[in-house]
Amino acid sequence: MTDSVVDCKTEVKQATKYVKETENVAEKYSALTVSKNSSDVNMNVGEMPSAAFTAVPTLKSVKKIQFANMEDKQEFSKYPTKAGRRSLSRSVSQSSTDSYSSAASYTDSSDDETSPRDKTQVNSHGSSDFCVKNIKQAEFGRREIEIAEQDMSALISLRKRAQGEKPLAGSNIVGCTHITAQTAVLIETLVALGAQCRWTACNIYSTQNEVAAALAETGVPVFAWKGESEDDFWWCIDRCVNMDGWQANMILDDGGDLTHWVYKKYPSVFKKVRGIVEESVTGVHRLYQLSKAGKLCVPAMNVNDSVTKQKFDNLYCCRESILDGLKRTTDIMFGGKQVVVCGYGEVGKGCCTALKALGAIVCVTEIDPICALQACMDGFRVVKLSEVIRQMDVVITCTGNKNVVTREQLDRMKNGCIVCNMGHSNTEIDVVMCASVTVAHLQHMSGSFNLKLQYSSSLKVSNLEI
Ligand SMILES: NC(=O)c1ccc[n+]([C@@H]2O[C@H](COP(=O)([O-])OP(=O)(O)OC[C@H]3O[C@@H](n4cnc5c(N)ncnc54)[C@H](O)[C@@H]3O)[C@@H](O)[C@H]2O)c1
Repeated sequence: MTDSVVDCKTEVKQATKYVKETENVAEKYSALTVSKNSSDVNMNVGEMPSAAFTAVPTLKSVKKIQFANMEDKQEFSKYPTKAGRRSLSRSVSQSSTDSYSSAASYTDSSDDETSPRDKTQVNSHGSSDFCVKNIKQAEFGRREIEIAEQDMSALISLRKRAQGEKPLAGSNIVGCTHITAQTAVLIETLVALGAQCRWTACNIYSTQNEVAAALAETGVPVFAWKGESEDDFWWCIDRCVNMDGWQANMILDDGGDLTHWVYKKYPSVFKKVRGIVEESVTGVHRLYQLSKAGKLCVPAMNVNDSVTKQKFDNLYCCRESILDGLKRTTDIMFGGKQVVVCGYGEVGKGCCTALKALGAIVCVTEIDPICALQACMDGFRVVKLSEVIRQMDVVITCTGNKNVVTREQLDRMKNGCIVCNMGHSNTEIDVVMCASVTVAHLQHMSGSFNLKLQYSSSLKVSNLEI
């Protein structure tokens, strides 16, 4: 008994010593960052003092801050919407960005650093009308597409039902979606039915490079790769639309960026478009805005009006992807964790169900009384974010709204709180703020070196480790 008490005391002493040492190094490091100007704060991991790395493991995450130089505007950097994503991409660890399908062994590491825009690639048919990471990955991508086909019987039976007829002949479809094996099955079905397609990615992280290569190999002009910059994103959209001898007459969009690019840059093409299909709630809002202003001269379909989209993508898919995303980026247990989910729509319902099943203590914020009542009836406490923010371990936004988590609320969160966006883009959480403050400031406001902000969207998750 006495021995164990002594052991405990020794352990406590050692722990206290370690904490003090940690604080000392932390203080030194803090002084270092304060004394430097803001451009120094943006230094690379490799440029940081190595002593701080070895002495305080948590400082590693501090050093990972490498905000994008948001002043580096280039020709295509006209839209501010993805600036946050760009800045976040720099600090994503390799393991967290590796999707289940982007097997490293298929990536030609020798040209990893070369931008696909600077490479000349040709597929086996002699066409170079595409821009992907590495066309040599096509065979692997093809196998992934074949596996996806097995789970997508509706589209495959559509192909069979057409029996060689081309009901979509004359359709020139320009698409901007996540480029995954499942999207490839859709694109190839459209082509099998007679459409001509050109495709780009709606998200700079989510492209499966090998799938993009497989599509390019079969002759679909694809302009996308994983880890695009802001500039690349708009360049790819432009390459899709701006093609001599080919003009889009249909748009399939996820988020509204492609639609707005065509609307702004190619008004004559926009006028001739026969229809727009929009996947996301946010993209639909943008279309409504155009419509209200009397500028939407094209019929548009809201995919969310389809119950299969609403229930499967928003509810059931998010019920699965929230855990996948959080586990990949945080590696923490959720049992017993305090989680607040903002918004109890389809996405919010899926997230709440999944997190509750893991044993998390989930509460909900809502602005719609019916959805609030539904949350209540499903057994979730309905709260105001400002009232619970201090206690939460995880904050998840699923609203599609703006400024749901503000700078002031970020300041009040406890150390280590994980903040995650399931809604569209970076408007729900004030992530722009993260790119505008210095390391020293973040240290000050978190009171520690372990503040972690996680930013996730859809199945693919990017994170900002601070
Ligand atoms: N991550 C993904 O894979 C994925 C999939 C589908 C949809 N989405 C996106 O998720 C978002 C939500 O989609 P949804 O289908 O659940 O929409 P929805 O309209 O069904 O639900 C949104 C809910 O958020 C509530 N809300 C709005 N502002 C709020 C605020 N400030 N605080 C609290 N609650 C608020 C609304 O009252 C509504 O109940 C959209 O932006 C959509 O594009 C993401």
